[in-house]
Amino acid sequence: MNLHDTEIPLGRLVAEHPHLIRTLEGLGLDYCCGGQRPLSQAVAEKGLDLEEVLASLKQALASTQDACAAPWLEKSCSELIDHIVRSHHGFLRTELPRLSGLTQKVFEVHGSGAPELEDLRRVMAGFRDEIESHLAKEEQILFPAIVACEARGAGMSQGSGVLAQGPISCMESEHDEAGAALAEMRRLTGDFSPPEAACGSWRALYQGLEELEQDMHRHIHEENNILFERVRAAGW
Ligand SMILES: [Fe+2]
Ligand SMILES: [Fe+2]
Repeated sequence: MNLHDTEIPLGRLVAEHPHLIRTLEGLGLDYCCGGQRPLSQAVAEKGLDLEEVLASLKQALASTQDACAAPWLEKSCSELIDHIVRSHHGFLRTELPRLSGLTQKVFEVHGSGAPELEDLRRVMAGFRDEIESHLAKEEQILFPAIVACEARGAGMSQGSGVLAQGPISCMESEHDEAGAALAEMRRLTGDFSPPEAACGSWRALYQGLEELEQDMHRHIHEENNILFERVRAAGW
């Protein structure tokens, strides 16, 4: 990567160098829903020093050189979709019921002394409803349509742009809403830090929510910045 190009969109940077995710997350830079923004702009909005951020990124690149290729840029849409459904959608189908149950349980036991748990339960319930319907739309409508375009060999800029204008715009705005719900959960839980006296379930809940956030960031990144970008470029 050419780190002199500070105008590179964050999503593109991560698509080329997935191992920079940890560094960007550590700096609080949003590479998934905010992946269209240039690096310099994202750094400025966060009030960070560009030179210091570049130094951190260069260090991360040097320490992991060649350790992790940019796998999804080189794979087909159907391979990427297969990975997204197995890995990220599979994770959500296991974790959403488990975390909803834990949220309810911790609220019932500790809610009277911790009012934020009621808000957390409400945000989690809304998040789960929205995401379950979102996954169904991707798996039943959008992803099969992308696979069909690829199988037909629809060439660059030969399509009508129907997928990009309709379902993809809709999925992207739902990703923004999911990102906002996750940010609200982070705020309500004080960055997923349980109180000193928290029981095992409370701790397990906050740890699970943090893992949910991490997986959703990678999931949205792979859709917005790699898969959907490719559909747009192909004019499908
Ligand atoms: Fe998805
Ligand atoms: Fe999605």
